[in-house]
Amino acid sequence: MSKSITFTIQPGGKLCGETRVPGDKSMSHRSIMLGSLAEGVTHVTGFLEAEDALATLQAFRDMGVEIEGPSNGCVTIHGVGKHGLKEPKNALYLGNSGTSMRLLSGLLAGQPFNSVLTGDKSLSGRPMKRVTDPLAKMGADIKTTEQGTAPLQITGKAGQLTAIDYTMPMASAQVKSCLLLAGMYAQGETRVTEPAPTRDHTERMLAGFAYPVTREGSTAMISAEGSLKAMDIDVPSDISSAAFFLVGASIAPGSDVTLKHVGINPTRTGVIDILRLMGANIEVLNEREVGGEPVADLHVVYSPLTGIDIPEHLVPLAIDEFPVLFVAAACAQGQTRLSGAEELRVKESDRIQVMADGLLILGVDAQPTPDGMVIQGGKPIGGGVVESHGDHRIAMSFSIAGLRAQAPITVLDCANVNTSFPEFKDLVKALGLDLVCTGA
Ligand code: S3P
Repeated sequence: MSKSITFTIQPGGKLCGETRVPGDKSMSHRSIMLGSLAEGVTHVTGFLEAEDALATLQAFRDMGVEIEGPSNGCVTIHGVGKHGLKEPKNALYLGNSGTSMRLLSGLLAGQPFNSVLTGDKSLSGRPMKRVTDPLAKMGADIKTTEQGTAPLQITGKAGQLTAIDYTMPMASAQVKSCLLLAGMYAQGETRVTEPAPTRDHTERMLAGFAYPVTREGSTAMISAEGSLKAMDIDVPSDISSAAFFLVGASIAPGSDVTLKHVGINPTRTGVIDILRLMGANIEVLNEREVGGEPVADLHVVYSPLTGIDIPEHLVPLAIDEFPVLFVAAACAQGQTRLSGAEELRVKESDRIQVMADGLLILGVDAQPTPDGMVIQGGKPIGGGVVESHGDHRIAMSFSIAGLRAQAPITVLDCANVNTSFPEFKDLVKALGLDLVCTGA
């Protein structure tokens, strides 16, 4: 894959029009995982055809699952049942995808075969002890590097896992989901308690597949008793991709954008709450439920923003949206302060440092803190050359900043936009941003 893709954004403009952004990444991963473990044929529509979800799809093909597609977002999965996965011939390569690696580590811990999980440079630097430590308590045998990173060498412990009652030290949907998937193969009831609500797509989708999973307050519970029945899944648009348009339209005078069929699961809508607290004008229209997930159309028009102290309880509910929210903060009058977000330092890049570095180059007063950022916004944004460090959300966030910049912005190392949103450059151009992609 070329690493030399550059986005060049001419300053100014506005976003206008109606669009549907691609399918939700979290749900796309889970549709392949659970569809593969189901009995019968699962049809998925709205599947995200981007590198991360495709890495999950390939991993299940490598474990013997017949999967047709994707074609126009349609995937047909011929489920092999809970005990039907086959030993992969080679290491499973998961690219940039933390979700694939962390969820698969739980699922594969209790299989009757061994497996190895590898990833790209970014994924190979991300912490995996957060999953391998609790899995070891269940009886799993997973070796990491000395640094606690991938490759993960999994010795399958079929029939030997036992349930744990685990309180997560951090609010992580990936850790929760990993342990719930391991719990499907463990003796007894696995209980996972979260310190703050995190996305619950795993629990909702398991219920959709008729697998018993229960909740008591902040604790999710599962056991090995149950099987998955194939179903049809309509994956809504990803609110994390919609976020670039929510911020873009909010900061660029004259903007008016409608985003169709966006997933508005309450564990994901922190970006709307935070933008509204800053004064954004976002309407949630045509609310409906599709396959157990709430969906709506989002209408956003330009509105002057004001800096805020971001309430900490919203942090896990907007965890992937902070790069672009920092751009909103740079355009908001006054100070915006984020705290309680140390998790941002272990995402695809250190999103606190990388965003602060780039904003500084653009002339924005952005001070990183150990667990967040303080931004003095509302002053003119300049142009310059910024590094995305191969992080898709950083690349797209600095592109959106161009709407309020006074000179061109060049964003380096943008190939990984393909991990979550390959259509970004076309959609954002169609709505009004002057973005040129070179090196593709
Ligand atoms: C995800 C959970 C979040 C999020 C990631 C997707 C998921 O990670 O940042 O993009 O699909 O479960 P954490 O669980 O590490 O917060």
